[in-house]
Amino acid sequence: MARRLGRRKMPDRGVHTERETEPIEGGVFNTNSMLSLHKLFNKHIIEKIEFPISTGKEADVYLALAGSAEQVDGAKFVAVKFFRLESQSFRGMKRYIAGDPRFGKVRKGRNTMVKTWCEKEFWNLKIALKAGARVPEPYFAVGSLLAMEFIGDENGNAAPMLKETKLNEPNEMLNQILKQAALLYSVGLVHADLSEFNILVKDEKPYLIDIGQGVTLNHPEAGVFIRKDITNITHYFASKYNIRISVDDALKIVTKLP
Ligand SMILES: Nc1ncnc2c1ncn2[C@@H]1O[C@H](COP(=O)(O)OP(=O)(O)OP(=O)(O)O)[C@@H](O)[C@H]1O
Ligand SMILES: [Mg+2]
Repeated sequence: MARRLGRRKMPDRGVHTERETEPIEGGVFNTNSMLSLHKLFNKHIIEKIEFPISTGKEADVYLALAGSAEQVDGAKFVAVKFFRLESQSFRGMKRYIAGDPRFGKVRKGRNTMVKTWCEKEFWNLKIALKAGARVPEPYFAVGSLLAMEFIGDENGNAAPMLKETKLNEPNEMLNQILKQAALLYSVGLVHADLSEFNILVKDEKPYLIDIGQGVTLNHPEAGVFIRKDITNITHYFASKYNIRISVDDALKIVTKLP
């Protein structure tokens, strides 16, 4: 419900404060996110929002019909990620933004922080794509919204997460995932939240998603994050498919160190 501001607390005419634009319901939509969504329509990135693909703690992702914009490149669908403005976990965002030289000083304010996070995911996807990694192509970031390539089928069914997939060739999948991490590493990027939840499987191939927290190698904790990523993956394949590879050996593949 919209909160009324007391007379003395009313902002000056024309001054937009974060208080004024607090989320109204559910933590995703407020004045800013509605304006951002409007921009996606105006720029013909999307034509229609269909339905939510996923609603979670940090973000909601919607399936949209693609518009005619050049960026969208003839695709039928677009995935639109709405970053949740109220998420408690945004408190932890600073850890990933502060050490990243691309984003400089961390500014205060929830909307600003979420916007930076969203831009970070956009740029991380761009870098990963340029490196030849399999990630959704980012189309447009505005405010707390990210429009990107939809990973799924012709009918608008999103590709399942690795966790939901029964693999026929798990060894091959593990190799491909390590290869994706190596491609990111080769251009100085660490995913920093890699797990069976953030990998979609389409045509037996892995697509890395949810890369907003990804950091560059000069981040002070990059080494910690990459070890955690690789540990998550090796543990998953060990427990689900009984494939044994040590974290150190997998890390050597990713970093190409002897
Ligand atoms: N490009 C995409 N194409 C198809 N489905 C997607 C795409 N991006 C995200 N999804 C779906 O939305 C889900 C959530 O996306 P993502 O992992 O990026 O958000 P999140 O930050 O983890 O959100 P939360 O933690 O709140 O669930 C994914 O598991 C996947 O099912
Ligand atoms: Mg995720």
